[in-house]
Amino acid sequence: MSQSNEAVRGSAPAAVAPQLAVEDQRTGRAYQVPIRDGSIRAIDLRQIRTDAEDFGLVSYDPGFLNTASCRSAITYIDGDRGILLYRGYPIEQIAGHTTFLDVAYLILYGELPTAQQLADFQQAVARDSAVPDGIVALIESFPRDAHPMTILLSAVGALNAYHPEAKDVENPAVRASVVTRLIGSFSTLAGLIYRHVSGRPVRVYPPQGQFARDFLRNLFADDPDYEPPQAFIDAVEVLFILHADHEQNCSTNAVRSVGSSLVDPYSAMAAGVAALFGPLHGGANEAVLRMLREIGSKDAVPAAVEQFKSGHGRLMGFGHRVYKNYDPRARIIKHTAERVFEVTGINPLLEVAVALEQVALADRYFIDRRLYPNVDFYSGLIYEALKLPVGMFPVLFGVARIVGWTAQWLEMMADPEQKLARPLQIYTGAPRRDFPARF
Ligand code: CMC
Repeated sequence: MSQSNEAVRGSAPAAVAPQLAVEDQRTGRAYQVPIRDGSIRAIDLRQIRTDAEDFGLVSYDPGFLNTASCRSAITYIDGDRGILLYRGYPIEQIAGHTTFLDVAYLILYGELPTAQQLADFQQAVARDSAVPDGIVALIESFPRDAHPMTILLSAVGALNAYHPEAKDVENPAVRASVVTRLIGSFSTLAGLIYRHVSGRPVRVYPPQGQFARDFLRNLFADDPDYEPPQAFIDAVEVLFILHADHEQNCSTNAVRSVGSSLVDPYSAMAAGVAALFGPLHGGANEAVLRMLREIGSKDAVPAAVEQFKSGHGRLMGFGHRVYKNYDPRARIIKHTAERVFEVTGINPLLEVAVALEQVALADRYFIDRRLYPNVDFYSGLIYEALKLPVGMFPVLFGVARIVGWTAQWLEMMADPEQKLARPLQIYTGAPRRDFPARF
């Protein structure tokens, strides 16, 4: 019901937002700042100033510990209770119960697809998964020992050269048209990159419509009849679903921030790849494997934990900015790992990981800081069981997360409140001074 109808009928006025009463002790002046959705608008602080010359109060939040950068309807996390919802659906009811492309559609468009919508979406992703020959040549031009994420970063940015029409980002139809190309190309790029770094013939098999199966065939098939084990297909489906989106994580924030400059989507997604590469984010799955190999045996676990506690390195795959409870994705991955190991045999590093988890979860240091295993703690063990080199682990994360980046980019581009992402700073340098005459 519109507000004017309310007024005509004389019913209660629209609820007034509760206010935060602020007193500035520098001036003795009082201010009212509206509270909406449990937040205040940082710009409302700007009215709080000592005099007309003063810039106004700003909020200082390195690392965005307590800053919401956007409104989003895609993913919900309750970090204290370990809850993750995609478009309202709990992750436990999604992962293992449907396909990655179903979930991708849900994340992108807000509702689960009908059978026809899913079929059309699958077909479009398959059609748009072809990458230009120039990109294949670019991948092949890298030294084989280049990090796969370095290659992915270049290849994603380079896609803009082959699809220049995508730079018309203010056109909603153009934006909509890049979705399936982004999802399809990331999968193909991952296959090409793996083949190149592992010295296999660089080739792509025509997609047959089942995303995880097509993906595994592109990675591992040396002949067209290769059929990945069903346990591998199921594991990839689950892993991709778990990694598909995670609200305003570091790489999504990078995509939104860079995308807010109205750059083309491929450049914005390359920013996401760069952020994902870092060991505190998507590179953590790779770092976990390296750490487990270094620790080597479960007997060495207590000493390693003491080392992490004394500030020498971090227990990789533990801790999260938002989850202060067990990451619900880690719980699901642990079960997926067990199913994969039934086919591949147990990865001996699993024993080290389980011992690490047990020791850390019982240790005051980790309890007091509320550090629990995160999504990356067990995912690397699965990727290793698939015989992928560690450098490919964050690439696989990217193949899934492109869905979230794309959905968040579309949401941002359609949001009338979004502006160029351009934070302020607290200047701590030299005051104005005159440049010496000798220069
Ligand atoms: N090992 C040991 N100590 C830790 C760890 C860890 N993994 N994580 C946090 N701490 C300590 C940290 O030293 C600090 O201690 P103190 O209060 O004594 O200074 C306290 O816990 C708080 O840490 P923080 O760095 O201020 O917390 P944050 O929210 O900025 O960091 C994090 C979150 C994920 C970067 C961090 O927990 C970490 O580095 N974890 C290891 C890397 C990792 O697994 N990353 C994957 C994250 S989940 C998937 C993804 O995003 O891709």
